Amino acid sequence: MPTRNPQATPPAAEQPVEHAGLDRAFVGRLVRTFYGRIRRDERLGPIFAAAITGDWEPHLEKMTDFWCSVMLKDGSYQGRPVPAHVKLTTVVESDFAIWLRLFGETAYDLCPPDVAAAFIERAERIATSLKLAMFFRLPPHGIGSVPA
Ligand code: HEM
Repeated sequence: MPTRNPQATPPAAEQPVEHAGLDRAFVGRLVRTFYGRIRRDERLGPIFAAAITGDWEPHLEKMTDFWCSVMLKDGSYQGRPVPAHVKLTTVVESDFAIWLRLFGETAYDLCPPDVAAAFIERAERIATSLKLAMFFRLPPHGIGSVPA
């Protein structure tokens, strides 16, 4: 029977991105610029407007917590992204390409290239897992079942 190698290295936890100027105030500016562009987008603007009907400030603060947790590993975000997106029934998979394009443009407009690349790499990974949660369904009787 295979035994566990006690000297095997566990997978390394993702490290905070350390860069002069990358702090909560900067992340807050990035978040506000990005959602300003989202709100002006003809496809995504109405989707967000329907979901966030009142004051945008709590959403912007929550998203600042989220990106600080992702990039700086400060633990400030405690929410659950999957249920927040699964309930958005008008969103289709191709909307993520628009979201990622706007996010990438904002990151490159505001950050040095290596920091922009780190934001984008994480955004793409999280977008992939959100898309799986929202759109991937096994056929009801399992893989290989023949539709009735
Ligand atoms: C087409 C793509 C997307 C759309 C239309 C979308 C839309 C939304 C909306 C409308 C909300 C607010 C929900 C509410 O407060 O009721 C929300 C929350 C959120 N979104 Fe997205 N989103 C998208 C992609 C993403 C991606 C790619 C990420 C991460 C990289 C992300 C991260 C979050 C987070 C962290 C929240 C807060 C969840 C919570 O704790 O309540 N979203 N999104």
